[in-house]
Amino acid sequence: MRDETAIAIRGVRVIDPYRHIDSEQEEVWVVNGRIAPEPIKNLEAKVIDARGLWLVPRLLDMHVHFREPGQTWKETIATGSRAAAHGGITAVAVMPNTVPVTDTPELVEWVQMRGRAMGLVDVLPLGAVSVGSQGQELADLGRMHESGARGFSDDGKPVASARLMRAALSYAKSLGSVIIDHAEDPSLSEGALLHEGRMAHRMGLSAVPEVSEASMVWRDVLLAGLTGGALHIAHISAQDSLEALAYAKAKGYAVTAEVAPHHLLLTESVLEQWGYDPVTKVNPPLRPEKTRQALIAAVAKGLIGVMASDHAPHHADEKAQPYTDAPFGISGLETVVSSLITALIAPGHLTPLKGFELMTTGPDQVLGLRYPGLCAGAPADLALIDPERRWRVDPQDFYSLGHNTPLSGMTLIGQPLFTMVNGRFSMREGEVVDAGISQVS
Ligand code: DOR
Repeated sequence: MRDETAIAIRGVRVIDPYRHIDSEQEEVWVVNGRIAPEPIKNLEAKVIDARGLWLVPRLLDMHVHFREPGQTWKETIATGSRAAAHGGITAVAVMPNTVPVTDTPELVEWVQMRGRAMGLVDVLPLGAVSVGSQGQELADLGRMHESGARGFSDDGKPVASARLMRAALSYAKSLGSVIIDHAEDPSLSEGALLHEGRMAHRMGLSAVPEVSEASMVWRDVLLAGLTGGALHIAHISAQDSLEALAYAKAKGYAVTAEVAPHHLLLTESVLEQWGYDPVTKVNPPLRPEKTRQALIAAVAKGLIGVMASDHAPHHADEKAQPYTDAPFGISGLETVVSSLITALIAPGHLTPLKGFELMTTGPDQVLGLRYPGLCAGAPADLALIDPERRWRVDPQDFYSLGHNTPLSGMTLIGQPLFTMVNGRFSMREGEVVDAGISQVS
């Protein structure tokens, strides 16, 4: 037993949605990277006094942009992995809108391999739906699936052609995979910078109505019904999209949806504070309060089953351009867990167990993963979170290269203090630990 490494986490509240367990005053042992069946006598362990903390297994952010290959000034797989570890996250699904677009099995493997080499977070690649995400020709979903692609999306762009979307849903169905839908009608949204409402009007900026998203969600829900394919709506943000989602559920279609934290915490009114600073520029745009309330209600009643950051880092110089020219996106990996607590758990919309389903079992099911939860023998992927700690967001503290967030200066509730991947700390008391990490397969 001499070369075993053991960590005992004492006095912790275990919140494990994978096993439907919420239990106080637990003692969890991690031995050689895995959860041990019970406290082990005669084994020397590093002890963590975790009284007052929450232990949540394998938090999965299923919508992030790591920009590699191609745009490494915005983010790399290494910097994105550090950001994830800092944020309490142990698995991420990375979007394929890289340069070149991740639309081949070789690129899917490359992204996966780079993630493994970094070893801080389980990097799950997503492949493009269409070649180059150009919306013309279906990409080779089958070979990408064989190479490890967990789903397919042209995220950043919609699949404008219904014919192509139909084919993609049928193809994904045959693979047991999922199409992740960036729902937007380009004929309505072209050139738009903001939500079509009060602030766009006041600021004189071109804007897009919610119909742009909702009409595409309705189209794709109907196509999911037609094909039987699995459809996941990314960053849902329109009231009528929720109607389509409810319809899909009533019909028994394989349709799921995710909400981004900024659509739950912020509204278009935040532009009063930021003015023409494109830190608020994101696609889909920040919506009015009525929509924010509808999204919260939809999460509370289980219609939306996933929260994902849509982590979209950009370089400071790019975001320093005028509103019209700056790229869309918010850097969200290091605030997503706290956002979940602040927006949904702390105000009592969801219990902690239900709340964390949005970043555990929810995305796990969408991507067809099977993490068993904190049972004996499971890889020790977990976060220790201080649920009471209030902290002020300062993007200068981010490990991400992208400091672009309109949450900057806001006080959030709850903070991840430790992240563990395969039994080793990837983050300890706010510091990312990236030396000597190795994977247990
Ligand atoms: O704001 C966004 N940024 N929305 C997207 O759909 C894409 C993303 C990006 O890649 O920057």
